[in-house]
Amino acid sequence: MFNLKFSDDQEKIRLMVKDFAEQEVAPGAAARDDAEDIFAVRDLLKKMGELGLMGLPYPQEYGGAGADQITYALAGFELNKVDASVGCAYSVHISLAGWPIFHYGTEEQRRKYSTKMFSGEYIGAFGLTEPCAGSDSAASQCTAVPDGDYYILNGTKCFITNAEFADVIVMFAMTDKSKGTKGISAFIVEKGTPGLNFTKRERKMGIRSTVQNVIEMQDMKVPRENLLGKEGEGFKIAMTTLDGGRIGIAAQGTGIAMGAYEYALKYAKERVQFGKPIAAQQVIAFKLADMYAKIEAAKLLTLQAAWKKDQHMPFSTEAAMAKMVATDTAMAVTTDAVQVLGGTGFTREHPVERMMRDAKITQIYEGTNEIQRLVISGAILR
Ligand code: CAA
Repeated sequence: MFNLKFSDDQEKIRLMVKDFAEQEVAPGAAARDDAEDIFAVRDLLKKMGELGLMGLPYPQEYGGAGADQITYALAGFELNKVDASVGCAYSVHISLAGWPIFHYGTEEQRRKYSTKMFSGEYIGAFGLTEPCAGSDSAASQCTAVPDGDYYILNGTKCFITNAEFADVIVMFAMTDKSKGTKGISAFIVEKGTPGLNFTKRERKMGIRSTVQNVIEMQDMKVPRENLLGKEGEGFKIAMTTLDGGRIGIAAQGTGIAMGAYEYALKYAKERVQFGKPIAAQQVIAFKLADMYAKIEAAKLLTLQAAWKKDQHMPFSTEAAMAKMVATDTAMAVTTDAVQVLGGTGFTREHPVERMMRDAKITQIYEGTNEIQRLVISGAILR
């Protein structure tokens, strides 16, 4: 079983991220959300680069901070407690863009891209989802055709987080449609590549200061040396990347729930009705107890998945369970937090309203919770 006593290094980084989250991220979170200020989030990512956070769980040799997945999860808790938009942009950069390039990239690709990503000079994105390929990633319609020293990519991607300001996008397209999942390949696409067009910025219920774009690729020329892994390895790259990404989203769900719970707890101790604080009314005290217990369960599942990844043990099922439970917890706890605050919780005077809106997407992206159930049931019924 994993050790729940964190090391001095893990605790030191957690406290550093907590301090950054409270001092730099929390104060503008509501205003950024209101204004859908995606560039302010990009600027915060740059500041996180200066603190060494943009390469947190990667080796120092490549410009990373050399921390483990447990530390990455702890950082995710702290950031998402105050702003899930920043948490989302960060998680996509670290898990969905940083990991596949580092793990599947050649030494040359690592030196060219990973080092710049880990310092925060480059921000990353992940181009998997398409209008006809949401939960069914294998239904990709995008194509990549070899042409001399290049691949020519065509097709449409949607809901791509960070895309508009990303310096590199891990892009997936079919190199051989007849081979199904074995016909998908992955590419590293640089900002400014001719034929790479951002045609829409989504307007959303939550995480409103992150950016999600539609991407139209029109005869987009990608150099052959930017193929990531081997031709036909794209689906495996996407699935293994998402396994790790789900730890990031589990940390996000847990963090959002922690933020909402802490706010509701403080409010319930201060708000007096019927002559005593509402926390002293059993109906509210029991609600707080349920919230707290659910968060602890989400935290443990998240840390277990992170620990298994650190130990190089199989962790797909654990990541799916953590993602599912933590994000369902985020939705339940933020809804309860709004309820504890009552009418005032429904206004923008308090962050729980934003947290409840933000929680919803965590049950949907990086594999809906229905897909997580598919992954978990597949493992237990094998
Ligand atoms: N690791 C390694 N290999 C895997 C794998 C994994 N986790 N999952 C599947 N594979 C392999 C299988 O072993 C199989 O290999 P073989 O053919 O050699 O046996 C192959 O991939 C095909 O597997 P399946 O038949 O299970 O594939 P499928 O088409 O039925 O799909 C799925 C499986 C789990 C439903 C998958 O499509 C999936 O995860 N869908 C959800 C997509 C998703 O999470 N999208 C998120 C987009 S990113 C995002 O949201 C970012 C953001 O903005 C924040």
